[in-house]
Amino acid sequence: MSSGTFAVLGLFSDAHKIVEAAQQIRPRQLGRLEAYTPYPVHGLDRAIGLAPSRLGRLVMLMGVIGAGLALLFEGWVSAVDYPLVTSGKPLFSWQAFVPVMFEVTVLFATFTAGLAMLFAFNKLPFFGHPVLHSKAIKSITRDKLALSIEATSATFDAETARQALLQNGAESVEIVPVPVWNRPLSLVGLLRTIAGIVAACAVAGAGLFALEKLIPIVPPMVHMHEQPKLNAFRVSSFFADGRGMRPAVTGTVARGHLPPAFATPEEAGTLLGNPLPLTQPIAERGRKVFNDHCAICHGLVGDGVPLLSHAYGGKPGNFLSNEIRARPDGHYFGVLMLGKNAMPSYAADLDNHDRWAAVHYIRILQRAQNAKDEDL
Ligand code: HEC
Repeated sequence: MSSGTFAVLGLFSDAHKIVEAAQQIRPRQLGRLEAYTPYPVHGLDRAIGLAPSRLGRLVMLMGVIGAGLALLFEGWVSAVDYPLVTSGKPLFSWQAFVPVMFEVTVLFATFTAGLAMLFAFNKLPFFGHPVLHSKAIKSITRDKLALSIEATSATFDAETARQALLQNGAESVEIVPVPVWNRPLSLVGLLRTIAGIVAACAVAGAGLFALEKLIPIVPPMVHMHEQPKLNAFRVSSFFADGRGMRPAVTGTVARGHLPPAFATPEEAGTLLGNPLPLTQPIAERGRKVFNDHCAICHGLVGDGVPLLSHAYGGKPGNFLSNEIRARPDGHYFGVLMLGKNAMPSYAADLDNHDRWAAVHYIRILQRAQNAKDEDL
């Protein structure tokens, strides 16, 4: 009878013999075959009917998924969600994504390999395999090879299995019982296990923290705390001119910021016209740019009365005055690019679209305050 028996274990001392025995016994389908050897034996996996592991293919699949996800994520962040030109490269520079893609590939692949191997293929957690409690285990871990027939089939018969092993060259045979201690996990046991894991993590975390704080020479963590960096508004000891905020390198042009082709606002006034059509969205955009950047000095209606306190001594232009109303659009654009006396240059802070939209909005403000009869 099979009840109470986990497997019948036959011991061999010759690697060739155990492979032959497995080949002979397998077709008889007495029960699941398993082998325990102190070193890898060629051909034994196939002899006991082990299919090639599917782990490799799974790892490959997850690695590719990892690489793809990393590419998508980096592409989305750099080109869609937060487009920022770095070193003049196009936004979607896949070459720059390769290191992170590689890391994520390895991350996905190794986690898949470890977790799938443990939980899917080796069916852990399974603490204390019954064979570990056999007498044969001592020799298996030294110089003997064991072939076991597990009591998996309904027709399993320990005596037949014993005979089959002996006939095929097993030196001794042992019947391994189903372990009695294999009881289901209790709630208290489960809670204790979880508490143990949490306590271990806390101790390890606190220990590492203390280690890193008290022995600050432990690399490389300490270097991450103290990184050399430039603060834009602080003096820098790194650059000869002492500036933390770096001006553009001489002779270079930032992407999207072509230098203006005019020297004065007056010249811009003769050269340029507003290229944007006056549409509802552009007018809305212009209002936003104006209210965000200009109203603080020029006033919400452009009358040149600052929202700032009187302590601000500047005299921002009154857009409603006849003098400024008469100036062409290009002149306003020129002032935005070059600045004018106390009026700061907006060459670096706005793009052309926003500059021209703001110009449109100034015209709207002017027209609103000087409405003619036909506007009504
Ligand atoms: C820090 C305060 C300040 C801010 C912010 C500011 N301006 Fe000015 N702006 C001035 C001052 C002061 C003048 C007068 C310069 C002069 O003529 O001496 C001026 C003048 C101008 C003129 C020129 C008028 C002329 O006489 O030719 C234009 C056009 C103009 N500003 C547009 C803008 C726009 C558009 C914005 C927002 C993008 C803006 N300004 C933001 C302070 C400011």
